[in-house]
Amino acid sequence: MIHPVLLCGGVGSRLWPVSRGLFPKQFIRLMSDQWSMLQQTLGRLEGLELAPPIVVCNEEHRFLVAEQLRQMGVENAAIILEPVGRNTAPAVALAAMAAQKNDAEAVLLVLPADHVIKQPTIFHQAVMQAVVAAEQGHLATFGVVPEGPETGYGYIERGVEVLPNCYKVTRFVEKPDLPTAKSYVRSGKYAWNSGMFVFRAEQFCTELGQFSPEIFHACRKAYDDREHDLSFIRIDRLAFEQCPSDSIDYALMEKTNNAVVIALAAGWSDVGSWSSLWQVSEHDDDNNVCRGDVITHNVSNSYLRSGKRLVAAVGVDNLVVVETEDAILVASKDHVQDVKHIVSRLKSEV
Ligand code: GDD
Ligand code: MG
Repeated sequence: MIHPVLLCGGVGSRLWPVSRGLFPKQFIRLMSDQWSMLQQTLGRLEGLELAPPIVVCNEEHRFLVAEQLRQMGVENAAIILEPVGRNTAPAVALAAMAAQKNDAEAVLLVLPADHVIKQPTIFHQAVMQAVVAAEQGHLATFGVVPEGPETGYGYIERGVEVLPNCYKVTRFVEKPDLPTAKSYVRSGKYAWNSGMFVFRAEQFCTELGQFSPEIFHACRKAYDDREHDLSFIRIDRLAFEQCPSDSIDYALMEKTNNAVVIALAAGWSDVGSWSSLWQVSEHDDDNNVCRGDVITHNVSNSYLRSGKRLVAAVGVDNLVVVETEDAILVASKDHVQDVKHIVSRLKSEV
C-alpha cells in the first residue's frame, strides 16, 4: 500500500506574525478561506488509492492536528507526536517504522504540509510514476523547473531516463549558495527539489541506517519505546532527544546512489514567505493581493492582510502589510526572507 506521510512539525517563522509557535503556518488557512495548508495537502490526495495517513507533528499541536483531521472526515490517521523537533530525517524514519508495522511492503509518499499544487491530477500521475520507481528500489523525488536561483531549495541534476518521466539523479545539492544556484539555473540541467518523496519504507530505513546510523538507531529506540495515548503515538522523549537533528535531504538524499527524479509540472510552490504567498495568490488589477478588511488607493504589487482591524494603504508599491491582534508586520516585499530574524530577536527577548 501507499502510505501518505504528512510532515507538519515545522515552525514557519518567515510567515510571522500570522504563523506562531503555537499555531504554525501548516495549520492556518493561508491559501483558502475554508481549509488550512495541512487540510489542503490531504484534500489533494483524493482520488489516489492510499492507506490511512501518517501525520508527524510536535506534541504541542496534537489537538490542532486531531481536530483538523476530524473536520476532513479522516478518522483512522496515525498521529505520531515528537517531543522535540529533530528535522525531517527523524520524522520520516518514525513514519517508516509505523508504516511497516502492519505492512512490510509499505511505500511512503512523504508530503510537507505547506505546499501549493495547482493541478492535482498531474500531481497524481507523477505520484503513480514515482510509486513504480519506488517498487523497483529507487528513492524518488519530484523535480520542478526552476523559476530563478532560489537558495531555499535543493537542486537536482538530471541524468538518464530509467523509466517513463523518471531520471537517475546524478547530483543532489541541498540549498546551494547564490552563485552556485545561479550557475545551476543557467546550465538548464537542474530542477528544484520539491521536498516530496516516494520510497519503500524498508529501503529508507536500510539506507538511513547506512548513511546516518545515529539518526536511525536513535529513532528505532524512540519508536520502540513509544506509548499509545488515546489515538496518538507518543515517541519516547529521552531516546528522541539523543537523536541528531538533520533533514532528509542532507541525511540521505545527497548520499544515496538510488535517487531518481520525476519531472513535475503541476503548478507546485512552497509557501515559505509572504512574497511567495503573494506570488501564488490571485492578484487584483493593480497586482495586489488583499485578504480581509483592506482598502487601497494608488497601491501596487503589494500583499495586504488584515486580521482584526481595517488596513488602509495609500501610494505604496511592493509592500507587505500583515495585521494581527497583537503585532503588525510592514516589510518591503524584497526583504521578507528576513522576517525570521525578527522572530529570533523576539524569542531571545522573552
Ligand atoms: N514532523 C516534523 N518534524 N516535521 C518537520 C520538522 C520536524 O522536526 N521540521 C520540518 N518539518 C516539516 C515542515 O513543517 C515542512 O512541512 C516539511 O517538514 C519540510 O521542512 P522545511 O523546513 O519546510 O524544509 P525546507 O523547505 O527548508 O526544504 C525542503 O523543502 C524544499 C521544498 O519546499 C527540502 O526538501 C528542499 O530540498 C526542498 O527544495
Ligand atoms: Mg518548506
